[in-house]
Amino acid sequence: MLQLKNITKVFSSFTAVNNITLHVNTGEIFGFLGPNGAGKSTSINMICGLLKPTEGEILICGGKDPSNSETRKAIGYVPQSLAIYNELTALENLRFFGRINGVPQKLLKSRISKALSMTGLERKKNQPAGKFSGGMKRRLNIGCALLHDPELIILDEPTVGVDPQSRNRIFENIQELNKEGKTIIYTTHYMEEAQKLCKNVVIIDAGEIIALDSVSNLIHNRLDKTVIEAVIGNQTISIKTDDPVKELEKLQKNNKFKSFQIREKTLEDVFLDLTGKKIRD
Ligand SMILES: Nc1ncnc2c1ncn2[C@@H]1O[C@H](COP(=O)(O)OP(=O)(O)OP(=O)(O)O)[C@@H](O)[C@H]1O
Ligand SMILES: [Mg+2]
Repeated sequence: MLQLKNITKVFSSFTAVNNITLHVNTGEIFGFLGPNGAGKSTSINMICGLLKPTEGEILICGGKDPSNSETRKAIGYVPQSLAIYNELTALENLRFFGRINGVPQKLLKSRISKALSMTGLERKKNQPAGKFSGGMKRRLNIGCALLHDPELIILDEPTVGVDPQSRNRIFENIQELNKEGKTIIYTTHYMEEAQKLCKNVVIIDAGEIIALDSVSNLIHNRLDKTVIEAVIGNQTISIKTDDPVKELEKLQKNNKFKSFQIREKTLEDVFLDLTGKKIRD
């Protein structure tokens, strides 16, 4: 469905994306992960044909160029910044985006009904989007991007600022769309989301790929598969290990811990191992 071949993007003299090569199979949910400023949105904008790579080649839908307006119809792009009109009602927003994305008039009504029911906005369809909560705006943002029934759906942090209820609805929408055969590219900072939804992920940092693998391989094919979290005094320390019993014995000898739990390593642990704990701009 998607191939990136040695993609680089330079803004003036700053390299935001550096020599990225990867592919996304048809019908998968692929995670595009990385800390702030990693180059995720820049990459997504190039995939959607909105930004031109400085170097490299992007092919979608079996070898087509996404900067071509015909090819771009195969993409449904849900941008990181909300792209809906606050003055328009949900229904008017959907009608508008359906028209500009070329949905034939005879299909528009049924597509809008499907979008309203999918996003749970039927009862609010006549209210201006500006009056919506953060979660409702995010859901409408998704609905607007899907009216033209695209093959490849790209969501750039669709769950920022939404409550668990809206987040669950968004997850269900993504899983349903995937079951219908759509390919999904999902960008997020929330590793538990990626672990739940995605089979394969790329982790980028400072514009470069630092991991490209299945979630399962990233978690299981590494050393220190277990994490001990022990409460000592007022602090919780976490220790990654393959031998929790030995580590607990050591801990007990050296410190008195109040309580502990042993858990399996998560994608978030791996992400922090790979990207470090330094705060990004
Ligand atoms: N048009 C631009 N001109 C100059 N620099 C840019 C431009 N767009 C992005 N950048 C820089 O490129 C880097 C990557 O930005 P990008 O928005 O792709 O990151 P991101 O991974 O999406 O981050 P976030 O998680 O915060 O959304 C950042 O340092 C950003 O400041
Ligand atoms: Mg971004």
